[in-house]
Amino acid sequence: MDNSPTEAEQYERIRTRVFRSSDEAVRVVAASIARLIRERQEEGRNAVLGLATGSTPLKLYRELIRLHREEGLSFRSVVTFNLDEYYGLPPQHPESYRQFMEVQLFKHVDIPTANIHVPDGMVSRLGVFEYCLEYERKIGDAGGVDVQLLGIGRTGHIGFNEPGSAIESRTRMVALDRLTRRDAARDFRGEANVPEYAITMGVGTILQARELTLLAWGESKASILRAAIEGSQTDTVPASFLQRHSNCRCYIDEAAASELTRFRSPWKVGPVEWAPPTVRKAVVSLASDLKKAVLRLRDEDYAENGLAPLLVETGSTYSLNIRIFNELQHTITGWPGGKPNADDSNRPVPAEPAQKRVLVFGPEPLDAELGMAGTLHRLVRHQHDVTFAYVTSGNLGVPDNEARMAISLLNELSVNGPGDTRGNNRLEQLAQELEQKAPFDEDSPGLRQFKGLIRKAEARASCQVLGLDVSKVLFLDLPFYELGRYRQFKTSDQDVSAIRDLCQRIQPHQIYVTGSGAEPSSVSGISFRLVAAAFEAWSAEAWMKGCQIWLYPSSERPWTTHEIDMAVPLSPAELAVKLDCLYHHRSQRSQTPFSETQSGESWQQAEHNNRATAQYYDRLGLPEYEAMESFRRHKESELRPASIASS
Ligand code: F6R
Repeated sequence: MDNSPTEAEQYERIRTRVFRSSDEAVRVVAASIARLIRERQEEGRNAVLGLATGSTPLKLYRELIRLHREEGLSFRSVVTFNLDEYYGLPPQHPESYRQFMEVQLFKHVDIPTANIHVPDGMVSRLGVFEYCLEYERKIGDAGGVDVQLLGIGRTGHIGFNEPGSAIESRTRMVALDRLTRRDAARDFRGEANVPEYAITMGVGTILQARELTLLAWGESKASILRAAIEGSQTDTVPASFLQRHSNCRCYIDEAAASELTRFRSPWKVGPVEWAPPTVRKAVVSLASDLKKAVLRLRDEDYAENGLAPLLVETGSTYSLNIRIFNELQHTITGWPGGKPNADDSNRPVPAEPAQKRVLVFGPEPLDAELGMAGTLHRLVRHQHDVTFAYVTSGNLGVPDNEARMAISLLNELSVNGPGDTRGNNRLEQLAQELEQKAPFDEDSPGLRQFKGLIRKAEARASCQVLGLDVSKVLFLDLPFYELGRYRQFKTSDQDVSAIRDLCQRIQPHQIYVTGSGAEPSSVSGISFRLVAAAFEAWSAEAWMKGCQIWLYPSSERPWTTHEIDMAVPLSPAELAVKLDCLYHHRSQRSQTPFSETQSGESWQQAEHNNRATAQYYDRLGLPEYEAMESFRRHKESELRPASIASS
């Protein structure tokens, strides 16, 4: 590949290829790894691969396994070195990185065990230093790493080199950042169970590989990727040190690329087509950057910020400002189900029919409540026929202690009541399992079911706060989740048809779904793609043609103002109702304190986001509300039901 950046890439300090989907990206990366392995085999030499774990490389490993099975790619001459391992986890532990690699790659290919190297998380504390030196020596003895695969954490870490890691750091033991531990909490069923330390290759070790390949998918990686690729080199974003390497490439999908200048402000890197969404984005960004209301923007503001061509295109500053101001104003509505008998030509939702059938999908309990509890409350108060479908029970997210508390409550009840011994036996069994279980053991199906009941009880209580009819609160318990575990879900036709049939039965006028479709292995990503498959199936149906699909945001990635197609204001009292609803999901509390840069309790984050959206509108010169929930209208390109069955 030519090393000089194109005009569009002029802000990027690492060569970056952007793909429509992660599927396309992994095919390219896997093909290049296969080429390397085959070339080396022809020369009678080993290929040395540096490997990463986490959700990012999962599809790549699947593609490599496919190449092995279907195209005869042999791993006999491949030597691997993994980036990192949790300290304190034995190799056979289900969450250890060694186990991850076995399950995701090694046991499916013909790699000799002696060629595999994953740091040992059980090495004694006193022996760690020597062990790490030895790990580096082994890399050297193997001839150095040919290609190092990397993911990126939301802290900007590569391997487990958290902020503060020096560019020359070597393989060593490190303490994990709080955000990293929080991101891993799901896998370990509670943040308290996540190991505090890890052994990781250093930044310096990584930079010694001959080629670096960083992969990233999904919106949640967008802002940290911008810092790593376009920001200055700093140890507060260790991935920014990759800029030093002459042979480093990022392979990312469109969602992960969305904060790069060429996508975020394309007018800064060359001529653009001034389609209406781009115009709105440019004006809103200009007003936000200059901290000015839209109607106060002047000719020189546009001219001095590279937007003179926009003025040429659209005529006068005055009419452009008015146009965008009106567009923003028209996104605001207190009638998310449409305002009956009103002129709806400038409203986001049609007035007719006055009473709409509304179908809301929540991937796990709490997701939809965080994104749109206030709007749900309004839809119910405005007498729409609202069905709320929880795609999964969320049982994997319940800490053992919550289950213990529920068992104790039930025990108290049965002692005082008539005494249902059958029930008691079951409780006893569950109590025993909790007692005997090591912190990281898998839950039995019975315990998972019990934990699911806890979340369903919380969900019902929270729906009651919103006034939802309990008979319209559905728990779909889709098999992909009930039979799977985080990062290792597999969807089947049963999952697809459950969603498809529900849509057909309800024939909704509005569907609400969370929009994080690009996060391939997350529960919300899978749910999104299942819903997308249902849209695809029913696209020819008359009811589908009149159906509006609204995307609510995740707490980690709220919509920015220019993206919003509908903003629903919340009064102080409505915000209080929302928080009350969220508090009922008590099993989902975390121990992390909230700050503006690190997400704490999810409801604090949601409140913060809703208040921030209202403040953005206010600063742009629109009315000042207490808080706002925001939605994007579905666009064709965002609902590609790609590779459902292989999730
Ligand atoms: C894993 C590793 C980490 C991950 C990063 C992203 O071996 O070294 O740096 O690559 O935390 O994790 P995912 O892919 O789960 O988003």
